[in-house]
Order: sequence, then C-alpha cells, then structure tokens
Amino acid sequence: MSADDWKRQAAEHALQYVESGMKLGLGTGSTAAKFVDLLAEKVKAGLDVVCVPTSEATRAQAAGLGIRLSTLDETPFLDLTVDGADEIDAELRLIKGGGGALLREKIVAVASQRVIIIADHTKRVETLGTFPLPVEVVQFGLAATRDMIESLAADVGCEGTINLRKGSDGKPFVTDNGNYILDCAFEMIEDADGLEDALKLIPGVVENGLFIGIADLGIIAGPMGVEVLSNEDPDFSVETIA
Ligand code: A5P
Repeated sequence: MSADDWKRQAAEHALQYVESGMKLGLGTGSTAAKFVDLLAEKVKAGLDVVCVPTSEATRAQAAGLGIRLSTLDETPFLDLTVDGADEIDAELRLIKGGGGALLREKIVAVASQRVIIIADHTKRVETLGTFPLPVEVVQFGLAATRDMIESLAADVGCEGTINLRKGSDGKPFVTDNGNYILDCAFEMIEDADGLEDALKLIPGVVENGLFIGIADLGIIAGPMGVEVLSNEDPDFSVETIA
C-alpha cells in the first residue's frame, strides 16, 4: 500500500465518528482532502452535516462536492474537526502548517468539541522538529520578527535555519490571511511547551504550528494497521486495529 492508501484508510476510519446533525470542521492538506471526498459520498447518501473549512482550498473542494458550508461566525461551536498533521508525537502533540493553513486550522480546532487527526504512519515521530515548524507572521517587520524568533527559540534550546516560505513562483508564500510563513528547521524540539510560550511573546507572530493539548484522537494508518491514539481517557491509550 502507498502513503496515499494509508491516508485514505485513516480518513475512512475517521468517518465513523461523524453523525448526522453534526457541525464539522474540515482540515487542510492531502489527508484532510481524502476525508472531504469520503464525507461528500456520505452527504450524497443522505448524511446531514454543516461544515466549516480551514482554508480556501478546502472550501473550494467541499463546495464543489456539494457539502453544505458555513463560517465560524455563523457557526462558532463545532462538534468535531478532522484534520491532518505534519508530525504527531506519542502525546498527540502536533506540528501543522505544511500547507500554510495553520492559523485557521488552530482557530477551527479550538472551537471544536472534539479534534481528530488523521495521518499515515510516516507522520509519527518520537520528538517533534524534523519537519520545519511553520510560524505565521505579519509582513510588517519581517526581519525583526525573524530575529526575535531566532533569539527566543535559542533560549529554549531550539536552533536552526529559519526560512521565509516561497511559492512555486519564487515569491513569498502568502497565507489565506495575508501573512507570511517562516519555516523554522529546529530538528529537535525538546521543549515544545517552552517554545510555544516563547513564540507567543513575539508581537509579529500571528500563530505557530505547534498544536499542544488540542488533538483528542489520532488515527494513524500504516503497515501495522490503523492505530488510534487517544487523549480522551484519563489513562492515555493506544489501540491498534489490524
Ligand atoms: C495544512 O496547513 C497542514 O497543517 C496540513 O494539515 C498538514 O500539512 C498535513 O498535510 P498532508 O495531509 O498533505 O500531509
């Protein structure tokens, strides 16, 4: 099976948590897109849900598939959000934002009663940080913000190159919110809480791609089968479904 098949398998598994009448958050990226495709099939078969997308790309996909859409202003509390991730550790801490949608993803996730992360097994890591941490920053004062990230991150043991994300046209990538993304290649983020706290102190930082204490379930598909990581039980659990 390919990574694509595993993404689809994780997305399929997540569908069982969706019930008619739910208000859903729809994530962004190739794995979330598979969930949106599968959800659309259920909607065609009669499932009644209203969805808030986390990006313009997901909005266009869902609208094209006939999924009923809303905004977070019209629907500020959601039952469930299903989204992908770039890295997932054993405590369901995440790096997100590889697709540049981290700000809306975090806003939508935090507005949701339950957050399910779907991924193929390559996203599971021991320590976050191999995937460069995306940090969304305002365009104004970019150099000063970049320097401050470098300095405050070093204080919590994170050092590495910080690159302004570029689009395929070579120009700076601009998020759906009109901001830039700095990709911070720290390699190992030993103190994710400390780094998140540090990043929050910087005025030019809009949001960062660390999602800590946000995901409730992780559905990870790979050669081992489908693994479900849960933060919902008092005793943190992992269940593998062959
Ligand atoms: C989008 O900004 C990201 O947070 C995605 O959820 C993440 O990059 C996962 O994307 P893939 O499913 O395409 O790997």
